[in-house]
Amino acid sequence: YLLGVDLGTSGTKTVLFDLAGNPICAKTIEYPLYQPANGWAEQDPSDWWNATCDGIKYVITASGIDASEIAGIGLSGQMHGLVMLDRDGIVLRKSIIWCDQRTADECQQMNELVGERRLIEITANPALTGFTASKILWVQNHEPELYEKCAHILLPKDYIRYMLTGEFATEMSDASGMQLMDIPQRRWSDEILSKFNITKSMLGKLYESPDITGQVHQRAAELTGLREGTIVVGGAADNSAAAVGTGVVRSGNAFTTIGTSGVIYAISNDVSIDIQGRVHTFCSAVPGKWTVMSCTLGAGLSLKWLRDTCCLEEIKEAENLGVDPYVVMNTLAEQVKPGAGGLVYLPYLMGERSPHPDPYCRGVFFGLSASHNRGNMIRAVMEGVAYSQRECVDVFKEMQVNVQDMIACGGGGRSPLWRQMLADMYNCPVSTIKADEGPAFGAAILAGVGAGVYTSVEDACDNLVIKNSIQHPNPAAQKTYEEYYQLYKKLYVDLQESFK
Ligand code: XUL
Repeated sequence: YLLGVDLGTSGTKTVLFDLAGNPICAKTIEYPLYQPANGWAEQDPSDWWNATCDGIKYVITASGIDASEIAGIGLSGQMHGLVMLDRDGIVLRKSIIWCDQRTADECQQMNELVGERRLIEITANPALTGFTASKILWVQNHEPELYEKCAHILLPKDYIRYMLTGEFATEMSDASGMQLMDIPQRRWSDEILSKFNITKSMLGKLYESPDITGQVHQRAAELTGLREGTIVVGGAADNSAAAVGTGVVRSGNAFTTIGTSGVIYAISNDVSIDIQGRVHTFCSAVPGKWTVMSCTLGAGLSLKWLRDTCCLEEIKEAENLGVDPYVVMNTLAEQVKPGAGGLVYLPYLMGERSPHPDPYCRGVFFGLSASHNRGNMIRAVMEGVAYSQRECVDVFKEMQVNVQDMIACGGGGRSPLWRQMLADMYNCPVSTIKADEGPAFGAAILAGVGAGVYTSVEDACDNLVIKNSIQHPNPAAQKTYEEYYQLYKKLYVDLQESFK
């Protein structure tokens, strides 16, 4: 057996798999998000650890297996969160996590210290409030007495590794989101560390994702029910682990997730950086490969907003039929032709990150007429989200990262209509996969490679990840979408100033 532990933002998902990749037993345990001020977001590392212990204990007991049959453990987790420990390994403050927005001044400071262009050349990304480096500078600026005591800086899942094994270690895919690495060279950047006043000994040892980073120690074995000595591999950042779990491990492969936000994640054999900072470049969980990734903020969120504000009748109808309201909304959207009758939607409900890093822009319905109904609006929202994903894929293309094959996952990925729109807009087949266990599956595959059960990440994925439906582009719809896509892009350019 293999164990995958995914430390998410809402909870930790622990899944036990057999060696053929079948999920045997899963447990999700939730924990709180603390928001001590507007735009701040923190979590308590002890909540993560307790949820991990309880989750592992649960799957071992409920499945009835012998813990000594677990060949390895893979960790995956939310990216960018800052965990600080003193020299005795005691947590110094709550973790400032990825969606915290308090560090705009520190981003400015980063650009001044390193230079905007140089920062992108080394770390492959512009200074971002979401990433770890700006959070470290915030603690230096606002809690200097606490920074003084800081001996170790870890990412969320790497704190779990420390608690399981006693090792201070991380791996390429997650460490990429700290903005302290030289991404092309796959190592910590001495230049960045010295400019940010961070000593290398504070950071974990850097491994590739399938490498063994340590063994479960006695105290952790007692708390989790694991066997002492079970290996723990590097694992990966949530999106990189999801990529492994969906078989996105070779150049040309990519996945799209439409959850609250929308992510596109593509693999590249060479490092490719967008000097304008419109999309992210990270090291991937496949040793020696990189990824480009876009993150749009109002994807599934847009449809959920429409559901909750304008589709109350449909929600009621769905309740009566005993189906998901999105199924009813999909049926209404299907009755409208591609192009939504000339109605175009811009999905910037929360501002945007990719490909327009712009906190000021907001959502737009353009071309609304008296003849439009809710079906037009639902379809326009789905198309607008698909246009925004297409705009990111176009940036990938400019970076010579071509997408030939796309896997759709997340809530939006369950809609055949939305998947068809994505196939038409990306001009490539869009598939789903059979067992969509998310990042925990990718983490378990990495554990299997580290344990020597599988020969490589690519080989394991070839054998374990099975595609389900495949949808191909429809040329007639593509022609219509192409016209409206040009209008969609022009609308942001025309409105950009007015948003401010
Ligand atoms: C990626 C990002 C999110 C978190 C969420 O840059 O901020 O996807 O990893 O868990």
